[in-house]
Amino acid sequence: MKIMNFAASLRKDSFNRKMINQVVEILKSLPLIEIDHADFREFEMPIYDGDLEESSGIPHGGLKLIKRIQEANALIISTPEYNGGIPGSLKNAIDWVSRVDPIPFKDKPVLLLGATPGGLGTIRSLWHTRVPLEAIGAFVYPEMFGIPAANKAFDQEGKFINPEYKERLKNLISSYLRYASALIK
Ligand SMILES: Cc1cc2nc3c(=O)[nH]c(=O)nc-3n(C[C@H](O)[C@H](O)[C@H](O)COP(=O)(O)O)c2cc1C
Repeated sequence: MKIMNFAASLRKDSFNRKMINQVVEILKSLPLIEIDHADFREFEMPIYDGDLEESSGIPHGGLKLIKRIQEANALIISTPEYNGGIPGSLKNAIDWVSRVDPIPFKDKPVLLLGATPGGLGTIRSLWHTRVPLEAIGAFVYPEMFGIPAANKAFDQEGKFINPEYKERLKNLISSYLRYASALIK
């Protein structure tokens, strides 16, 4: 099973990058998993513009993201929360990706994670992110995991300080993989 994963943040010291790095560490310990660890910076794209699409098609960054999603069997995304919802950059990327037929997210199992220094653990963003993904046919895993106080959650090497977080993420990933295996054609 090929799993594409990325943090929906461009920031070098992003907590969501740290979260997704912990995901990669867990995936590496599992058999029969191919990991496509992407950097959201690879998919730079302008704000969706129907005129631009008509004149020059989907931008290069969007095409790259489309190809990577098409090639994956399943996805894991860790997203920040901006003003109580999905970051504009992630929504914009989903909008561009949705412009090809068939939509690459269609029938793909997706696990949503998040990290924030705030107290609500990105839960509002995770719920908002489900909406466009489910609208375009993705199978978003029912359980989501966002961590609050992320500025205190990782050590100098970017690993979880609290071992319970690692354990919880491991268990979540293994149940998500069972779900994904059942859905993959
Ligand atoms: C425009 C903007 C809006 C934000 N709104 C929220 C918010 O609603 N809830 C929250 O927990 N954090 C919010 N934050 C703080 C982010 O959680 C914080 O910047 C976090 O570090 C972003 O994720 P990253 O570390 O992966 O880049 C906001 C940050 C920005 C820049």
